[in-house]
Amino acid sequence: MTDTVSIMADQWSDLGPAESLSRKALQQIVVGRTRVALSFVDGRFGAVSGVCNHAGGPLGEGRLDGEYITCPWHGWKFHCRTGQGEPGFESDQVPRYDVEVRDGHVWVNLTPATGRHKQPHEPHPLARPVERQPGPVRVVGISTTNMNEALPRVSTSDLLLRTAMAHAEQLGLESRMIRLSTLKFRSCEGYYSISAHACTWPCSITQMDESDQMDQVYEAIVHWADVVVIATPIRWGSASALYYKMVERLNCVQNQITIRNRELIKNKVAAMIITGGQDNVQAVAGQLLGFFAEIGCTFPPFPYIAHSRGWTAEDMERNVAEVSGSQDLHDAARALTERAVHAAQHLIAATSHDPLSRGGRKAHRLSPPPEPSVD
Ligand code: FES
Repeated sequence: MTDTVSIMADQWSDLGPAESLSRKALQQIVVGRTRVALSFVDGRFGAVSGVCNHAGGPLGEGRLDGEYITCPWHGWKFHCRTGQGEPGFESDQVPRYDVEVRDGHVWVNLTPATGRHKQPHEPHPLARPVERQPGPVRVVGISTTNMNEALPRVSTSDLLLRTAMAHAEQLGLESRMIRLSTLKFRSCEGYYSISAHACTWPCSITQMDESDQMDQVYEAIVHWADVVVIATPIRWGSASALYYKMVERLNCVQNQITIRNRELIKNKVAAMIITGGQDNVQAVAGQLLGFFAEIGCTFPPFPYIAHSRGWTAEDMERNVAEVSGSQDLHDAARALTERAVHAAQHLIAATSHDPLSRGGRKAHRLSPPPEPSVD
């Protein structure tokens, strides 16, 4: 909850009766354009900037961990009275304000007693400008089937993807294969639901957690590849759970279009391989096409190949045998690669640098960024 009060003379401002302000351990108060995180811990008021050093999260809307305010967006911590970062990161500090109780009212001096200091952080490698490097078309294959890597089995979608990727190499192209089942990465934790601006590029999980391996997918799709071939099995009528786990983490790519008009993916082609023992190919294709369109990909003619033996086919071993031995399906996987590569070659040759004026599917002009607050 954010309260607003008006500025009085000088830089000292009366925030209101101490009795009512002490009822909340932490609150965000806006005075003019200054956001203050006002705390009341162990019988003492503290006032620090309500704007987080990381990405501007509203500190006063966070929670207290002892004497530290935990930012509600991604969990950075600052001392509730000094504004200093948590032990080890003290110099990463937000401004502190003097605070006094006079005649039962809480007064805050909006001239900061200490300044904001951001410990220099090396930008994440993914944050570099997106520039296509010269060279032949590059193809990344993303296999989304899940399996126990210690007990590997045959996957029909993975099998056809390998054929598609081998063909890319035969065409003299660079190729890279990513099998999601070999990566350890966290599920999207929904920062977007707090604020569109809390969803960052690179993903805040990627920035916070060096062990998270989703960076390999981001690097390949955003910076490296011209063609993305996604392979998925059909699971209960949908794409695989790992596919959706990846896609949720790719929300940060789409969100950059919404909040910053920033196209991270441009002049790239997506193609799909969908296989299942039972049907629902068109619904799965619709999901995949919809999402990859949203993040900025374009598609070749006939952008997916698929195989299903229908609703009554429960003899899965026959399904594997059929896909493995089908010349038609393997030829189709090679032809899919060629269609996608040709489309990418056209896009690269006709590269446009025109910025978007309207963001993605929203079709309306992008909202201006929030007015910056002052310390
Ligand atoms: S931790 Fe505060 S904005 Fe990210």
